Amino acid sequence: MEILLIGYMGSGKSTVGNYISKEINLEFIDLDKYIEEKEGLSIKEIFSAKGEIYFRLQEAAYLKEILESKSDYVLSLGGGTPCYANNIKTIIESNIESFYLKATIPTLIKRLEKEKESRPLIADLEEHQMVEYIGKHLFERAPFYEQSKFKISIDNKTTKEICSEITTQLH
Ligand code: S3P
Repeated sequence: MEILLIGYMGSGKSTVGNYISKEINLEFIDLDKYIEEKEGLSIKEIFSAKGEIYFRLQEAAYLKEILESKSDYVLSLGGGTPCYANNIKTIIESNIESFYLKATIPTLIKRLEKEKESRPLIADLEEHQMVEYIGKHLFERAPFYEQSKFKISIDNKTTKEICSEITTQLH
């Protein structure tokens, strides 16, 4: 079985992916980590040394590499992955079990304020700019995320609760 986790930055894709992969005994792949290992650079370094377009091209190529070469895994995407390079079409055509971890803007802001340093798109934003940026960004990206097979609201839920909703959907 292949499970794909989709959602905005801070929606918990990596945490949920790591947790559920142990519960159902599947390999866990974090696309950002996969890219970092392959490129020998952190995401932040890739953005600053090579630019976002380079990152998006590599992101699409590594996503295809994983979908074509592996089976039986939980894969967490980056927040932008479904929104570039026709990746959403690749995902839908691969018929994988895709889950959109759906969070409201206040939840995302609360989480991202604490951990924005490693995320180049928001690292330099002041606190008061976050609402406008995330609101607009999510508005643009939601149509891609919404193409996931399943949608799970994650506000005020524990990782365990989210994972049990995912496994329920799979049965
Ligand atoms: C990005 C999200 C990040 C990472 C990169 C770009 C985005 O992943 O891929 O910084 O465009 O939303 P996370 O969603 O895991 O933070």
